[in-house]
This record gives sequence, structure tokens and C-alpha cells, in this order.
Amino acid sequence: MAVEIREFTDADEEWAAGVWSIAFRDGLPLTKEEVEPAFGEEHFVAERDGRPVGLFSVHSMTATRDGNAIPCAGIASVAVPPEERRSGVAEAMMNWCANELRHRGFAIGSLYAFSEAYYRKFGWECAGHRVSITCPSSKLPESDDVLPIARHSYDAWPQAKTVYDAFAKRYSGMNCRSDEGWDKMRGKSRDRTLLFLAGDPPEAYAMLVLAPWREKQFISECAWTTARGHRSLLALFRALGVNRDPIEWYEPSDSPFLASFLDYGVEVSLTRPVMYRVFDVPKAISYLRPTTSGEFTIRVADSFAGGTWRVKYDPAGIVVTQADHAEITMSLGHFTQALLGEPSLSDLARQGLAEADPVALQSAVRLFTPHPTYCMDFF
Ligand SMILES: CC(C)(COP(=O)(O)OP(=O)(O)OC[C@H]1O[C@@H](n2cnc3c(N)ncnc32)[C@H](O)[C@@H]1OP(=O)(O)O)[C@@H](O)C(=O)NCCC(=O)NCCS
Repeated sequence: MAVEIREFTDADEEWAAGVWSIAFRDGLPLTKEEVEPAFGEEHFVAERDGRPVGLFSVHSMTATRDGNAIPCAGIASVAVPPEERRSGVAEAMMNWCANELRHRGFAIGSLYAFSEAYYRKFGWECAGHRVSITCPSSKLPESDDVLPIARHSYDAWPQAKTVYDAFAKRYSGMNCRSDEGWDKMRGKSRDRTLLFLAGDPPEAYAMLVLAPWREKQFISECAWTTARGHRSLLALFRALGVNRDPIEWYEPSDSPFLASFLDYGVEVSLTRPVMYRVFDVPKAISYLRPTTSGEFTIRVADSFAGGTWRVKYDPAGIVVTQADHAEITMSLGHFTQALLGEPSLSDLARQGLAEADPVALQSAVRLFTPHPTYCMDFF
């Protein structure tokens, strides 16, 4: 029997609480507030034979690109009760997302996977990197050129938001957070979250919950707008490391720490990858900002969002029309990466992951420019 997807109603709350409790909370209960959709969030229920068999949430977010904000559906809380698993319910939910969310205005989606290989089967791909840096405090640099640091509670988030907004525009894939988004963040640890601002007006910030004495200090979030702001954060981390060592934090792939301070004893890994999937190819392309002009045809292979298009662009705009042949052919997953910029179209083509006529490729590469891709939201 086919799986149908429908909107969530109040009558689903008790059932949803039970499913999410098993899936994500080790059987511990959820409060009514935790089950109700939060601001900018919508839940959906999968039904088979009129019975609920799965559910997921869609967060209304953005994915930045070239300073623009692409409407992005953040898929979360995908859950199927154990007795209904391995019968294609999640697959049906993912297919529904791929087909329906573009009609709801989302040109792209993002998610954190329990298994990247599982979602890859449905056209999702990892884009960009989250570089986790674990550094003994003795290896953190000392510098005279640092900004004064002010310590606040999480409630001072409006001052951090200015830094975040500028930071978000510098990367692809970032969520332009609303005030409500900031306000709902940090959940249960909000009361214990410290917010450090570097400079006035701030050029950097770091948020953290203090680790136990002498244990590793994890920085839950940090961002900067200047090299001096970043150095100031490193000086703060060094100070925190006096009795909480080492310090662990995340940077994007164009990490200023790796560019200037990598040293023996520093551990670096790629962690918590975020996956994206374009739902609407022409609409997603329209968010790119060309600085030159060009033209090419492209085929994107996908059961839902696939097609063949001619793309003509110049600094005044982009026109995407249907085409009957393609000079460039790629999977939707690799197209999604090229759209965001990491890995870039030129990297993908060099690795044989996009088949392309060399002249058309040159034209496409000028539009799909390389760009570091990052996401600081966990949803
Ligand atoms: C992850 C989860 C949502 C998957 O739901 P599901 O409905 O079982 O998913 P599907 O049936 O579409 O596919 C799941 C797997 O079962 C396989 N499968 C599907 N039908 C099958 C069948 N009849 N027989 C055997 N295997 C089957 C699929 O190929 C897939 O396997 P793979 O990942 O090893 O390739 C579910 O296991 C769950 O709720 N887990 C706990 C919460 C969680 O981790 N959520 C994901 C957050 S990102």
C-alpha cells in the first residue's frame, strides 16, 4: 500500500511524541512544547492504510550564495517507528520532499544525515566542510594585536547577530537567521551559555557552555568578520585553556587557523557534514550573481528535479530556458555542490564527475564560481 504524506494536526501530537522519543531521546518523554512546531517549522506525517507510519519536520531556512539567500527547507526529525522500518517509509518521505517542497517555494533543501550514504541514494550530497580543530592551549598563538573581550549571557545575541550576518554572507549554504531563530536557539543549555564578544562594535564572537574543570572545552559556535577578530578569539581560547584543555571549535574550509597556525599536536578532522539537495534547478541558478557574461547548456540527472536547460547570463541577470541537448551533464548531487561552490564545478569536472564540452565548461565555471560552503545551524 502506498505511503501518503499529509500535514500534521494537534491529534498527531501524542503519537509523534512517542515516535520521536524512541528515535531521538532513548525513550525519554518529550514535552508538548517540544512536539509542537516551532517558529518557521512545519511537521508532516506519513500514512499507510490511514495509519501514521512516519514523520519529519521542515524548517524554513535559507542557503546563502553570492550574498543572496536561497529559500532552503531544513529537513529534520525524520523518524519511523521500529515496527514500520525497512519498508520504504523514509524513502517515500524523501521522495515527497524532492517533489513537493519546490511547490512550497523552496529551491533547495538541507539536512544532517544518520547515514550520508542513505540520503545520497535520494540525490542529497555533502557540500563544503566543517573543520573541527582540537588544539592544546599551549599551541594557541599569542598576539598583541587583539581586541578587548566582553563576556555576556546568551541574551546579548543581538550583538553577535551583526557578526553572524556578515559572516553568513561570506559563505555559501548559510542560514540567514531571523530574530526568532536566534531567540529559540540553544534550547536547554541557553541559561548556561556564555557569549564572548571581541571588540565594540564586535568583530568576532564565541558561544560556549563551560566544560568541567580540566576537561576539553568545546566552543559551540564562533564567527568573525576580521582577521583581528579571529586572533582575538584564539587569545580567548588560550585563556579558557588555563584550566580547560584542549579547546575544540569549528571553522569553515577556508579556515584562518589552518592558514596561519597549524602546528604539531593540533588535531583536525571533518565532522558533522551537512547535505543539500536542489529541488528546483532554474530557480536555484537564478540566485547566482554573474560578474561576466556567457552561455551553456546543462543536463541535470534526477527523477524529480532533473532536466536539460540553456543558461544565458550577464551581470544584469540570468535566463534559464528548456533545451534539447546538453554540453554539460552531471548528477543532481554534484550539481548541488557546484551550485553552492564546494566542491566547485571546475573541481568536479577535473575529477570526471561532470561530463563537459571544454568551451561550455569554461562558460559555466565563470557562473558557478568556487565558494567555501558552511552551515552553522544544527536542526
Ligand atoms: C532512519 C529511518 C528514518 C529510516 O526509515 P525507514 O522507513 O526504515 O527507511 P527505508 O525503509 O526507506 O530504508 C531504510 C533502509 O532499509 C532498507 N530497506 C527498505 N526496505 C527494505 C526491505 N523490505 N527489506 C530490507 N531492507 C529494506 C533500505 O534500503 C535502507 O537500507 P540502507 O540504508 O542500508 O541502504 C528510521 O530507521 C528511523 O526512524 N531511525 C531512527 C531515527 C533516525 O535516525 N532518523 C534519521 C535522522 S537523519
